[in-house]
Amino acid sequence: MLADRGFSPHSGRSERPHPSLLTPSAVGKKRTPSSARWLAEHESDPYVQQARKLGYRSRAVFKLREVQERDHILKPGMTVVDLGAAPGGWCQYARPLLGPSGRLVALDILPMEPVAGVDFICGDFREPEVLQRLEALVGEGAVDLVLSDMAPNISGIAAADQAGVMCLAELALDFAGRHLRKGGSMLVKVFQGDEFDAYLKAVRGCFETVHVRKPKASRPRSREVYLLARNHRVL
Ligand SMILES: C[S@@+](CC[C@H](N)C(=O)[O-])C[C@H]1O[C@@H](n2cnc3c(N)ncnc32)[C@H](O)[C@@H]1O
Repeated sequence: MLADRGFSPHSGRSERPHPSLLTPSAVGKKRTPSSARWLAEHESDPYVQQARKLGYRSRAVFKLREVQERDHILKPGMTVVDLGAAPGGWCQYARPLLGPSGRLVALDILPMEPVAGVDFICGDFREPEVLQRLEALVGEGAVDLVLSDMAPNISGIAAADQAGVMCLAELALDFAGRHLRKGGSMLVKVFQGDEFDAYLKAVRGCFETVHVRKPKASRPRSREVYLLARNHRVL
């Protein structure tokens, strides 16, 4: 599905809270003790409150914003791929920064409400047919920045969750290796744990510099960190 590619600096923003930021009570679900705990934490989360106030679809936007404010990875005119884009907070934040000559292609296994100026593919990034659709849109070696915030639903089984995230991160690295321009960058979500060191080593082999970023909006108890890899070497 390709969304409207019209560009507007405020595209995709809404004054009303996005459904992804609505609470279980607001969507009429019955609360279990664990959902009540989740709700209390969610409601008191300053990033959730700020996302609602600013019309962003997810609190995740503040992770990208912190990286951008420090590292300036998004620039006008860039071609950017956003993997694991739904509900669209990163797209909302990134699109205006790319300007009218920039391009943003987003992909998620879940549907996403359109963000103006963003091409969206709905599909599982692990499926060859979905990858082909993405490749057809971006072309060879033409991407400046690959963003990946992909994460499977957390099952609570640590080993399975770790493996799931690292598998998606490996696929994102493979995609970046084939589609980034020389000198391009990648920001990818990973979990610290099994396979982290091997993954970091693989990323270091493909990029001149790699930094580990833990934005403030990433919950301290979460093993989630982001690798910021810059200056892609075309091997
Ligand atoms: C943390 S959310 C992304 C939030 C997003 N960055 C934002 O700002 O709104 C992770 C996303 O990864 C997506 N995802 C998980 N597995 C995927 C897969 N195999 N292919 C594509 N997307 C996937 C999920 O559907 C989910 O929307």
